[in-house]
Amino acid sequence: MDIQERERWGTRIGLILAAAGNAVGLGNFLRFPVQAAQNGGGAFMIPYFIAFLLLGIPLMWIEWTIGRHGGKYGHSSAPGMFQVLWGHPVAKYLGALGLFISLTVMMYYTYVESWTLAYSVFSALGYYFDISDFAGMRRFLESYQGLASEGHFQGIGTAYLFLLLTFSVNLYVLYRGISRGIEALAKIAMPMLFLFAIVLVVRVFTLGTPDPTQPEKSVWSGFAFLWNPDLSALSDAKVWLAAAGQIFFTLSVGMGTLHAYASYLRENDDIALSGLATATTNEFVEVILGASIAIPIAVAFFGVQETQEIAQGGAFNLGFVSMPIIFTKIPLGQLLGTLWFALLFFAGITSSVAMGQPVVAFLQDEFKLSRAQAVGLLGIFAFIGINCVVFFLGHGFLDELDFWAGTFGLAAFALIETILLCWVFGIDRAWEELNQGADIRIPAFFKFVMKYITPLYLIVIFTAWTIQDAIPTLGLEGVKPEDVPYRWGARLLMLFTFTAVAVMVALAWRRRRRNGLETFERR
Ligand code: ALA
Repeated sequence: MDIQERERWGTRIGLILAAAGNAVGLGNFLRFPVQAAQNGGGAFMIPYFIAFLLLGIPLMWIEWTIGRHGGKYGHSSAPGMFQVLWGHPVAKYLGALGLFISLTVMMYYTYVESWTLAYSVFSALGYYFDISDFAGMRRFLESYQGLASEGHFQGIGTAYLFLLLTFSVNLYVLYRGISRGIEALAKIAMPMLFLFAIVLVVRVFTLGTPDPTQPEKSVWSGFAFLWNPDLSALSDAKVWLAAAGQIFFTLSVGMGTLHAYASYLRENDDIALSGLATATTNEFVEVILGASIAIPIAVAFFGVQETQEIAQGGAFNLGFVSMPIIFTKIPLGQLLGTLWFALLFFAGITSSVAMGQPVVAFLQDEFKLSRAQAVGLLGIFAFIGINCVVFFLGHGFLDELDFWAGTFGLAAFALIETILLCWVFGIDRAWEELNQGADIRIPAFFKFVMKYITPLYLIVIFTAWTIQDAIPTLGLEGVKPEDVPYRWGARLLMLFTFTAVAVMVALAWRRRRRNGLETFERR
């Protein structure tokens, strides 16, 4: 496909919905409440908003700028985009990191997304409504995941079926393409997501104090827990790191996916307002809707302390264990449970297709594969990784991928792209590019932020992360001895994935040279 035949978004609103769908995901409804609860509720919100302002918004603009600029040269994935910014041959391999991260996150994200589809069906059928305690609901989840022998499920079969279904829908949407697939999906999924979320939020607000004999357990104490700022936490590095990590994950920055979406814009299409709209929509969904469901309702039933303990127990406890218990206790619980998990599914699928798109676009752009071929190849590769996640889930395989690709990787990639755009390509050209066709005037303050504050902030976060988390994680501190081989397996998978991607990039550039195409390399 040459530049003239590039795919395009159908409508502006379609683009905004798709980009918001990319950002709004499981992170908003599952990861955010858990992070907030683990980091002291109100203590978390100040570093969170600072990270949004100084990392989230600037990175959003940086990625839209890189994406639209790369698109002008026929590139919809990071290797080509980075090469356009910087003529050094290594640039394309830095871009390969973008393909690696999105692909790796997709491997575990799609599996969790499939649980939400399954649980929405289970809720509709009342399948877990005979369980009333925490241990029982945990066992239900574990038996579904094939980790516990007793429970409602025999083996992994049901989970595997839902996974196949979810994965096939993802591939089908990608196969349909940008406007008829991703945009069409967003136009249905996003309004439904809003509707379901609003119904749930209204229900939470009307819940009050479910047990009048225990007035400390109310939705209001849940809100107070989240919104009473606790300035003492500002001196805790861990909270700042968690807040930055949440901002990366929830906005999908540092992943390589927003670039791909922006590349289907025309040269004079606005990116300033669209980028900002994406970021603010995501934050509305996260801190207004996301924050008003899982935490307040959990506090109303379990109290603040137990809610924190539930969150400490793991990322999925709040969404897949405590929420189902609550649904069994409230009127219309089956309906509300169905809505909650369907909402998660819609949030998830509009993000996971975005994770598949960079690889599909890379194969189409650089190897001239048809969309069906590109999606087929992505499918085969991702499926290998997904199977490892499914079968080694109990051994921390998912956690290992999530740390290196979904946390550390996002910060690393964000740092690289910020330096490439604002320093190598140059902040003046970057600013001009960002403002071309802009529907808003971005305050000049952000030019300064993008050049100095964002990279500095990223360097600090990245260094602190390396010292505090990456080195102990690398040394597998606190990992059960029997899980060690699986953790190494996850690392091997990542190494293999990155190598495969880098080799493909090398081949693509060889092909470009052979065919006399512009490589943008200045040797
Ligand atoms: N941004 C996506 C989410 O929050 C990945 O789930």
